[in-house]
Amino acid sequence: MSVEPSLEGLREEALAALASASNEAGLEQWRITFFGRQEGRMTALLRSIKDRPVDERASFGANANRLKQELEGALEAKQQDLKDAALKALSTDSAIDVTLPGRPQVLGRLHPVTQTMRDCLKAFGDMGFRVAEGPEVEWDRYNFDGVRIPEDHPARDMWDTIWVNTLIEGKRHMLLRTHTSPNQVRVLERTPAPPVRVVVPGKCYRQEATDATHEWMLTQIEGLAVDEGVRMTDLKGVLYEWSRQMFGSDRKIIFHHSYFPFVEPGVEMAIDCFICRGDGRACHTCHGTGWIEILGAGMVHPEIIETAGYDSSRVTGFAFGLGVERVALLRWGIEDIRNFYANDVRFLQQF
Ligand code: FA5
Repeated sequence: MSVEPSLEGLREEALAALASASNEAGLEQWRITFFGRQEGRMTALLRSIKDRPVDERASFGANANRLKQELEGALEAKQQDLKDAALKALSTDSAIDVTLPGRPQVLGRLHPVTQTMRDCLKAFGDMGFRVAEGPEVEWDRYNFDGVRIPEDHPARDMWDTIWVNTLIEGKRHMLLRTHTSPNQVRVLERTPAPPVRVVVPGKCYRQEATDATHEWMLTQIEGLAVDEGVRMTDLKGVLYEWSRQMFGSDRKIIFHHSYFPFVEPGVEMAIDCFICRGDGRACHTCHGTGWIEILGAGMVHPEIIETAGYDSSRVTGFAFGLGVERVALLRWGIEDIRNFYANDVRFLQQF
């Protein structure tokens, strides 16, 4: 390249300095010397174009810019040379073969119970239910009293409770919630007027002797719909549609009468056993009944409606509490619920 004599000196100096730079730090020093924003020599030269006599300005400017481009190109080439040299040194000087492909990253995935939970919430969401949440460490007045299970009532024995050992006036009042039903009271309490249509997901804890369908930590989804004119048929319709979404329409469901103090009437819903299909043989998953219970439900007790400040002669509601692990068992034909929390990746990888 032909450069004006006044630029030639700078060019030679810059190229010589670049040739002698042997590492990243040297290149950076070079960049600052020639292209630094404040004091860089090339920068100063470009800045001086405007001070040239008018008749020289255009050609000097063009030459200066060409030099700038040449030096920038030389810097890039030098950077690449240094990189190539470093890579070569790595592959010849050490035992590591940098040309081998990397180890593939193991991608995580959602736990089958989480997947099932999300699918359930989606199905209810499509039917107009919004998601609410409540605490896992709960007061006994919500877990029990608020849902019509007063102290010393035999219904407290329905679940073996895990209490928190903090005493208030000599008594324990906090526990790991045994079900998500306390959220019926919590949601109604903060909703001044109907309609209410929520699903409340979460972990619950019971002191259980575990078996193929019972764990001591379980996941429930509470459903609650309260408004004028809500009927048992609405409950059945919602649950039927949800089970169709989750299991397809060829699975059978059945409602049995059942007792829960906070609903009247109360039911349990079960699905036909995927292991034995009710053929009567000794099945350890359904205990030979042919059915696996997945949820409790019913019409919200009028006392709970009244306590929320609603008029129970006009306002009615339904509630249900379903076990998400049970749903996951049925979906994938898993024989034992304890697999979910045994942390065996060979099991978890299948979902
Ligand atoms: C209850 O927990 C009630 N709160 C449900 C309810 C809500 C009834 C609203 C009426 C109205 P239950 O203890 O039956 O009921 O549990 C409900 C569901 O949770 C069961 O049907 C089952 O699917 C699941 N479940 C219960 N215990 C366990 C357990 N130990 N392990 C796994 N799942 C369980």
